Amino acid sequence: MGKSTIRIGLLGMGTVGTGVVRLLTAHRADLERKAGAKLELARVAVKDASKPRDVDLPKGMITEDAVSVLRDPSIDLIVELIGGLMPARMYVMEAIKAKKHIVTANKALLAEHWAEIVGAARANGVEVYFEGAVGGGIPIIQSLSEGLAANRIEAIFGIVNGTSNYILTRMDKDGKTFPEALKEAQKKGYAEADPALDVGGGDAAHKLTVLTSLAFETTVPFASVHVEGIEDLTPQDFVWAREEFGYVVKLLAIAKQEEGKLEVRVHPALLPETHLLADVDGAYNAIYVVGDAVGATMFYGLGAGQMPTASAVVSDILYVARSIAYDVAGRAGWGPFGDIPHTPVNLPVRPMEELTCRYYLRLSAMDQPGVLSAIAKILADHRVSIAAVVQKERSKGDKVPVVILTYEALEKDMQEARRQIESLPAVKGKIVLLRVERGE
Ligand SMILES: NC(=O)c1ccc[n+]([C@@H]2O[C@H](COP(=O)([O-])OP(=O)(O)OC[C@H]3O[C@@H](n4cnc5c(N)ncnc54)[C@H](OP(=O)(O)O)[C@@H]3O)[C@@H](O)[C@H]2O)c1
Repeated sequence: MGKSTIRIGLLGMGTVGTGVVRLLTAHRADLERKAGAKLELARVAVKDASKPRDVDLPKGMITEDAVSVLRDPSIDLIVELIGGLMPARMYVMEAIKAKKHIVTANKALLAEHWAEIVGAARANGVEVYFEGAVGGGIPIIQSLSEGLAANRIEAIFGIVNGTSNYILTRMDKDGKTFPEALKEAQKKGYAEADPALDVGGGDAAHKLTVLTSLAFETTVPFASVHVEGIEDLTPQDFVWAREEFGYVVKLLAIAKQEEGKLEVRVHPALLPETHLLADVDGAYNAIYVVGDAVGATMFYGLGAGQMPTASAVVSDILYVARSIAYDVAGRAGWGPFGDIPHTPVNLPVRPMEELTCRYYLRLSAMDQPGVLSAIAKILADHRVSIAAVVQKERSKGDKVPVVILTYEALEKDMQEARRQIESLPAVKGKIVLLRVERGE
């Protein structure tokens, strides 16, 4: 039997939760028509009920007792917008066991506990939807699970962290250093006080784990994702990449399937300046998906923020509410894409050392004879061929920046060569190594 009223329990009413309440209120009539049922916000759990809120709710609706919301038998659907792993994980698991459907925007939780959540949802016949977890307002989850369902996905290239993309854009366009651009991002509200998860690549890796698990119908262990951040980049890297070689620098989330193995990695990369992703600037996100039938597609929009993310969360609420209203919720599987992952064996993730690509190296060397030939010899000894070398004018003292672009080489060889070059007495400090992506 379907239901004519869907009762919603909201866990967390911060940035996104407040946006969700706003949308549910402002668009109520349209949403209810689309859902085929009344949508009733039943209870809202927060950490501190005494905090002033930006939305008016009936007295008694807000509680600090999240467990009472999960256990309320009249609630059909739990919307988890607390974030982080604990207590969100415990609440989501408890709600699933109580046979309540879930909508969440929590990429960390999904990335790190995908198998547990999917397993529990399947076992309990409930649905879990998570459009807001990747790309904010961009409907990438639905696009992958429905719009592109006829395809075998070959590759995904994403700019999925708005904070990092904003910082990189400021470094590129205004010549700011990383600390200067980070400070500006924090001032404008694009970066958290603790930006480590964003600039270190962890947030993008969470999103990539979710995208890859869905797109390739597998479970990607979060620990198998290779992650590097943007902290070591300098404004000169953008100038040299563009002016010398015709590339932009972006923090890319990359997933590819080749010969039955997955590549899943997040790192700053050089991308041709003619690529569609090269113009995705500021806090915008974009996900470039290559399918075997459709070819290349790109999904673009605001990757975070109150109303863009609420747009995604409310679309999930609508979807699940409609399923409950027509009594089909959970019957066709646990969430987007029905019942996946259904592959009997998860796809193995290719170890990073097996990657083959071109590299950009930036190093600082003493301005003295024989240094370049010593570097070239180490590279040649490791089967790394040089495509171009640019030696810049002296920066400080007698050190000169040297930029090298290589032809395709094996990551293992490249890393070993990097270690040996770093140990040359004439080479000072760390080598910055960026991978060059064609993006297709
Ligand atoms: N912000 C974005 O632009 C964005 C974009 C995409 C996805 N997301 C995801 O959306 C989720 C929510 O993010 P947000 O930015 O809205 O977070 P937020 O502003 O920090 O809000 C978190 C909410 O959770 C509540 N809370 C914290 N601990 C709780 C507990 N133990 N029990 C009950 N409630 C608790 C807080 O209560 P108080 O209000 O009382 O402190 C607050 O209302 C996260 O998973 C995040 O990754 C956010």
